Amino acid sequence: MENRVRSGITIDYMGMMQSSQNQNGFTKEELQNLQEALNEAQTTLSTRWKAGEIDFSKLLDPIKTQIPEIIEYANSVASNFENFVVLGIGGSALGPLAVHQALNHYYYNELSPEKRGHRPRFYVMDNIDPVRFNELLQILDPSKTLFNVISKSGNTSETMAQFLIVRDTLRRVCGENYAQHIVVTTDKEKGNLLPIALKEGYHRFVVPTGIGGRFSELTPVGLLAAAICGIDVNQLMEGALEMDQWIRKTSGVFSNPAQLRAALAHLSWQKGKNISVFMPYADGLKTMADWYAQLWAESLGKRNDRQGKVVNIGQTPVKALGVTDQHSQVQLFVEGPDDKVITFVAVEKFAETQEIPVDLELPEDIQFLGGRTLAELLFAEQKATEYALTLAGRQHQKIILPYLDAYNVGQLLLLLEWETAYMGELLNINAFDQPGVEEGKNGTYALMGRKGYETRRQEIEEYGKTQYSLTKEL
Ligand code: PA5
Repeated sequence: MENRVRSGITIDYMGMMQSSQNQNGFTKEELQNLQEALNEAQTTLSTRWKAGEIDFSKLLDPIKTQIPEIIEYANSVASNFENFVVLGIGGSALGPLAVHQALNHYYYNELSPEKRGHRPRFYVMDNIDPVRFNELLQILDPSKTLFNVISKSGNTSETMAQFLIVRDTLRRVCGENYAQHIVVTTDKEKGNLLPIALKEGYHRFVVPTGIGGRFSELTPVGLLAAAICGIDVNQLMEGALEMDQWIRKTSGVFSNPAQLRAALAHLSWQKGKNISVFMPYADGLKTMADWYAQLWAESLGKRNDRQGKVVNIGQTPVKALGVTDQHSQVQLFVEGPDDKVITFVAVEKFAETQEIPVDLELPEDIQFLGGRTLAELLFAEQKATEYALTLAGRQHQKIILPYLDAYNVGQLLLLLEWETAYMGELLNINAFDQPGVEEGKNGTYALMGRKGYETRRQEIEEYGKTQYSLTKEL
């Protein structure tokens, strides 16, 4: 890609700070006052890193991440299949989807095989809506499809149910060759998927121990899909590693990007901003907002602090897209409750700019657009929105990517992961577990009749007996 700009990411936090237009912003002293807490966080995180507990960073090593094996496998299967389908949910789906949308053609699946580099179409089935599932199976020829079942635990009901349906279909359509249509990404020792994969001979990749789903994009969870669909996974890892080094080797709120972002998030949260809006100004980053929402919500939304005290803490993430949401949610951001902090993600240089034609016969009030580009219009709208927020005394900041490519996306992923880890430390909670999600999973096992969950089933059924509902009589 000749257009690559190799300089790194910038964080523009002017909109968070006090200025002549915005008295509500923070002062440098307020940020500086968090330094001690940030130093403590850095020491704790570094100890945990050494103990192998921060594996999203520790396992960026290409060999440990199985990159050569992933690339070899991806190249050996990519042209054999028309479709590649991820079956997974939560962290096992959002990362692969976000990176694909950021780095591949927006209409990738609609491109001709030549334009896709003879790589398969890409689908992510991250839900169990029976209609959508059935409709996906209707449009795919199973004999020309490779399914990647991704589940770290190997137990998640949604993914296991999808897998069982697909396996059954493949057995009927492909006969004894069906196992060549399934590749499994799961734990190396635990879970129910592993013994089936071993017994039936599926190709297999390992989700490293200690990495929660939402932190697992740069493991085989995300890298396999990326490599199969033609993304340069080495560049993705290079960008991630560089950001990782910057964050791990630098101290100081004004020098370390994760410390800076976490400090700003923490100050804003202390000042009652319970909502964190993530608003990229690039359609390619639309699903990155979904990924970020899971990362922020599942990591930081916690009942207990590290000492076990009930704190019910967390900042609610909201996904938005510029400029589309300027005509939807921005009214609320500017004039509604002052409970939000907004992160814009901007791309400095688009791969295309798209000129707007000049037509001097048009009314003057639209003539001004002629000769400009869609990129210029988008930049202007983004700046105008920032300014409107500033005038309204609302806080906002911007992550600027020089270019939307694998290297910069790798940087962005690591920045947000580290920022979340730091925020977890500042909030004194464990950012790496998800007990609330597990509770829901257990309830599902109970209601679906899994052995060992009988008591939970009785409790839920008892609760379901009391009903308050209103139905329109026919
Ligand atoms: O981030 C997480 O840990 C979760 O969102 C999981 O990814 C999600 O629940 C799916 O779990 P699993 O990969 O074990 O099927």
